[in-house]
Amino acid sequence: MESKTACDRKGFTLWFTGLPCSGKSAVADRVAEILRQRGLKVERLDGDIVRQSLTRDLGFSREDRNENIRRVTFVAKLLTRNGVAVLTSFISPYRDIREEARREIGSFIEVYTKCPLNVCMERDLKGMYKKALAGEIKEFTGISDPYEEPISPEILLETDKETLEESARKVISRLEEWEYL
Ligand SMILES: Nc1ncnc2c1ncn2[C@@H]1O[C@H](COP(=O)(O)OP(=O)(O)OP(=O)(O)O)[C@@H](O)[C@H]1O
Ligand SMILES: [Mg+2]
Repeated sequence: MESKTACDRKGFTLWFTGLPCSGKSAVADRVAEILRQRGLKVERLDGDIVRQSLTRDLGFSREDRNENIRRVTFVAKLLTRNGVAVLTSFISPYRDIREEARREIGSFIEVYTKCPLNVCMERDLKGMYKKALAGEIKEFTGISDPYEEPISPEILLETDKETLEESARKVISRLEEWEYL
C-alpha cells in the first residue's frame, strides 16, 4: 500500500486517561515520537504543561477538572480537524466529560492506561502519592478523589504487565488497523 501524504491524512485525537503514574505521558511521548518519524504532524497536550499555561487559573474540584478538559477539548478539536495527530495526557477522571470530548472531537480514540493503584503508588515519579497520603494534597485522584474507569476504551493498555515499548506498539498497530496510518 502506498504511504499517505500530508494532505490526505485524517486527523485524530488519542485521548490518554488513567491514574497518576499509570503511564499516560510516557506512552503518549513514545507514540508521538514514532508518529513524527513517520512524517505525521503531531501535537502533544500534557496535563502538567497545560495546567501551567492554558488552565493555570483552575484547581482540582470536579468543576475545575471538567473546565480543564473542556478547554483541552476545544484545542484538540481544532487541531484534529486540520489533520493533526493529537495526543492528550490528562487524568480526566470523570466519564461524562470524556464522553463530551468524544462527541466534540469526533475522531476520538480513548486510550486507558490501566494500572493497579499499588503499582502507581510504587512508581510515584513526582512524589505526589506520598504527599497525598500525608494529607498534604487534597483531591488527589486514587487517594482522596475518584477515578471513573472507561467502560469500553478503544485501546486498553495494562502498563503493569507490558513494557512501555509494547504499549506504544499496541497503539501504533491499532492506528494501522483503523487506517489512520
Ligand atoms: N507499559 C508502560 N507504559 C507506560 N509507562 C510505563 C510502562 N511500564 C513502566 N512504565 C513507567 O511508569 C511511569 C509512568 O509515569 P507517567 O509520568 O507516564 O505517568 P502519568 O500517567 O503521565 O502520570 P501523571 O498523571 O502524574 O502525569 C514511567 O516511569 C514509565 O517509564
Ligand atoms: Mg503525565
